[in-house]
Amino acid sequence: MTLASHAKVIANSLLLRLVPNYRNWKMRRDWDRRARAAPREMTATFDAASWDAYWASGVRDAWIILEALGAAYDPAHTVLESGCGLGRLSEALAERFRSVVGIDVSGEMVRQARALSRRRNVTYLEADGSSLRVAEDASPDVIVAWTVFRHLPRPVMESYVAEAARLLDRGLLVFEVQHRPGARQRAAPDFNTIMEREYDRDALESLRRSNGFRWATTRVLPSAEPDTETWLVVWERTVGSLDIDLQQVGGHPPVVRTP
Ligand SMILES: C[S@@+](CC[C@H](N)C(=O)[O-])C[C@H]1O[C@@H](n2cnc3c(N)ncnc32)[C@H](O)[C@@H]1O
Repeated sequence: MTLASHAKVIANSLLLRLVPNYRNWKMRRDWDRRARAAPREMTATFDAASWDAYWASGVRDAWIILEALGAAYDPAHTVLESGCGLGRLSEALAERFRSVVGIDVSGEMVRQARALSRRRNVTYLEADGSSLRVAEDASPDVIVAWTVFRHLPRPVMESYVAEAARLLDRGLLVFEVQHRPGARQRAAPDFNTIMEREYDRDALESLRRSNGFRWATTRVLPSAEPDTETWLVVWERTVGSLDIDLQQVGGHPPVVRTP
């Protein structure tokens, strides 16, 4: 580590501790910069070669989500995509659901998503970076976070799960995370807004329990990062904690591997 980068780490750690809202401010600034510099690459690195490839990848990922939802899929549902970027996935989901609200911490992403949008049943909104307040009037049935949780500081990821539980009396939280089988999961400093964090089952399990979700399914998808997997997780919230407790009897559902 050079002296300059060492100084940066110390400065960021101090600012995080001393300045209220520094983390949210930094997430917004960093992602605004990425949105201006290379929006397609920063939101879908491996599908950024052309706009055609980019939008087609959104359709592909929407199908992966629909497949994971299985019988829980309902075209009458409203979806909230947290961390929607340019709307790559939101636009594709809007073809399959009644309506979609895409929210993002980056005002620049939201501005570009609105300009690119081709659908009337999608709305894009700028968010505060750790809550879903901006979208609560939409009363979503399904909340999706796709290639977002892996980039978030852990307290922010946990805040989004708690927010999802708050908004969903009954409904589904669908998210993907990176997982490193048989090894220590990679972490990152809280001020780092891009480095991929990894999660194991125990960490997710404790988060699920504390927020009253039922574990509906896990799909294991290929990952571009060596020695890791992508987990697509679907958690369900039903009305009443007794209901949830009873459904937890029997342990985790099986993991389904998608080649
Ligand atoms: C890798 S991109 C994925 C975009 C989109 N989900 C997709 O699949 O095309 C991550 C997105 O999350 C957004 N993001 C990062 N931190 C966020 C936060 N704390 N709250 C909301 N959005 C955030 C970024 O601005 C960026 O648009």
